[in-house]
Amino acid sequence: MLEVRAIDTYYGETQALFGVSLSVVAGEVLALLGANGAGKTTVLRSILGLTRPRSGEIAFEGRPLARRATHEIARAGIGWVPDDRRLCPTLTVAKNLALGVKSTRFRAWSMSEVTDIFSALKYLMAREAETLSGGEMQMVAIGRALLGSPGLVLFDEPSQGLAPKIVDDVMAVVRRLKGEGIASIVVEQNADIALSVADKVVVLSHGTVAWTGEAATLVADPALKRKLLGGAR
Ligand SMILES: Nc1ncnc2c1ncn2[C@@H]1O[C@H](COP(=O)(O)OP(=O)(O)O)[C@@H](O)[C@H]1O
Ligand SMILES: [Mg+2]
Repeated sequence: MLEVRAIDTYYGETQALFGVSLSVVAGEVLALLGANGAGKTTVLRSILGLTRPRSGEIAFEGRPLARRATHEIARAGIGWVPDDRRLCPTLTVAKNLALGVKSTRFRAWSMSEVTDIFSALKYLMAREAETLSGGEMQMVAIGRALLGSPGLVLFDEPSQGLAPKIVDDVMAVVRRLKGEGIASIVVEQNADIALSVADKVVVLSHGTVAWTGEAATLVADPALKRKLLGGAR
């Protein structure tokens, strides 16, 4: 579904990614792990065409993304749940969700399916987004991504700053997507949260791929996990 091949991505003259490769097949969950500053968000920004790689290739369903605008990449079926949620603060929840609605070749999600997943949203529709708690904002950001009919969803640190109950809800959504054949990339500093849902893992270190393999391999080998992820549990 997604193939990232040897990308080098820069911010100005500063190189942030060095030959990063990864791939995701339909319905698969890839955990993208690594310390703060390792380049995880930059990988997502590269896929979305927000910070374009200077070299290397990215293809979604076999088609190169290099010359496509970010809105075209979204229309191809790549959804994004940004680390800072990026809601429109003075618009209502209903309007923020409506902004995400689009059709792609992938499964469409109705508003009632989204409010069945996050029932709290039903009672928040008329609220301005800036008045929401962090967890409520995350629900809106995920709901907005689903309403865009994605085939692949990029979650950037979805657990950050959230209560454990909401983290469980978010991971349940990732599992639900997997059941529907929708792929996810879950960026996490908290490895255990991502490993609880992941099939495959890519560990980034200083902009390079330090390890790639099956999640089960990492779960079964605490010494390897500690070596790759350091202090992270
Ligand atoms: N907008 C930016 N301008 C310049 N450097 C940046 C920018 N965003 C990130 N970087 C740098 O790129 C590297 C990777 O950052 P990032 O992808 O955000 O890491 P992560 O998401 O793993 O914490 C870091 O060294 C960071 O300082
Ligand atoms: Mg980041």
